[in-house]
Amino acid sequence: MKTRITELFGVEHPIMQGGMHYVGLAELAAAVSNAGGVGIITGLTQRTPELLAAEIARCRELTDKPFGVNLTFLPSLSAPDYPGYVKAIVDGGVKIVETAGNNPAKWLPGLKEAGIKVIHKCTSVRHALKAEAIGCDAVSVDGFECGGHPGEDDVPNFILLPRAAEELKIPFLASGGMADGRSLVAALSLGADGMNMGTRFIATREAPVHENVKQAILNASELDTRLVMRPLRNTERVLVNAGVERLLEKERTLGAALKFEDIIEEVAGVYPKVMTEGDMEVGAWSCGMVCGLIHDVPTCQELIDRIMAEATQIIRGRLEGMLAG
Ligand SMILES: Cc1cc2nc3c(=O)[nH]c(=O)nc-3n(C[C@H](O)[C@H](O)[C@H](O)COP(=O)(O)O)c2cc1C
Repeated sequence: MKTRITELFGVEHPIMQGGMHYVGLAELAAAVSNAGGVGIITGLTQRTPELLAAEIARCRELTDKPFGVNLTFLPSLSAPDYPGYVKAIVDGGVKIVETAGNNPAKWLPGLKEAGIKVIHKCTSVRHALKAEAIGCDAVSVDGFECGGHPGEDDVPNFILLPRAAEELKIPFLASGGMADGRSLVAALSLGADGMNMGTRFIATREAPVHENVKQAILNASELDTRLVMRPLRNTERVLVNAGVERLLEKERTLGAALKFEDIIEEVAGVYPKVMTEGDMEVGAWSCGMVCGLIHDVPTCQELIDRIMAEATQIIRGRLEGMLAG
């Protein structure tokens, strides 16, 4: 399939794997890229720029296809060494960067100078337009369904994607709730140039996470995610568990008085416990409503091949067939 996204990134299929904390390691990024998509290493999961450089080198040993690095710009008291991470990306010869969180304007000149294509992930049309205006090459538009941070507007993809298509000139990916060939054809129909998936890629053989995480996604239905940290205007969609129930109880009890320190136990340091140790009740980890559509743990190659075959069948068989009828 050829779209503006396959052209931009020089890949076979218009399918990207979004940056995921403690999931987007070299194994997964390489597996997605080897299957013809765009695999992404999550920059900040590597505690230092040196470790990121090593992870990029490790990924390059696993694939000769294009892959990218996610740089998430979070509001934080002690900012990570962003210049160091950018240098590791540039020196590592990476040609695709997925930015997310705050406006990436400050980092664009350095990235562009190195010939890097930047795709910014955002959750609203106004932020997508801003990304276009500052010179991003593409955007990923994350609907309300998405795992992780859906923003505060709560616009689902059936509205958000066609709205983005109405306004944007640069290519964009549909993100949030994407799982299969149906998602891809729907995304293309709504005006996107491909799709970005997070949660779906966790339930793959190569995702380097504890088996309990994959099993939790298989067991979950579309009713099993919750929105946390809304009172802090830092909303995150997570899979429900005992720690999340405790967190939500604190939100209910404390109301507008809630502070980050009140919920630190349920949100800080949770990822290694979940993803590495498989402790599924400890607290908040991102997961999309799309878990309701995930019923198996294929390899990335099987998943992407299946998506492309299903998309082709829907377009050539189902849709063409309807017109012919
Ligand atoms: C476990 C997990 C961790 C994530 N961590 C990050 C992150 O560190 N940075 C980021 O930009 N997005 C992160 N995301 C968001 C994904 O990149 C992607 O935008 C989102 O998962 C899309 O929604 P979906 O899960 O419905 O496919 C994360 C998502 C998940 C499920």
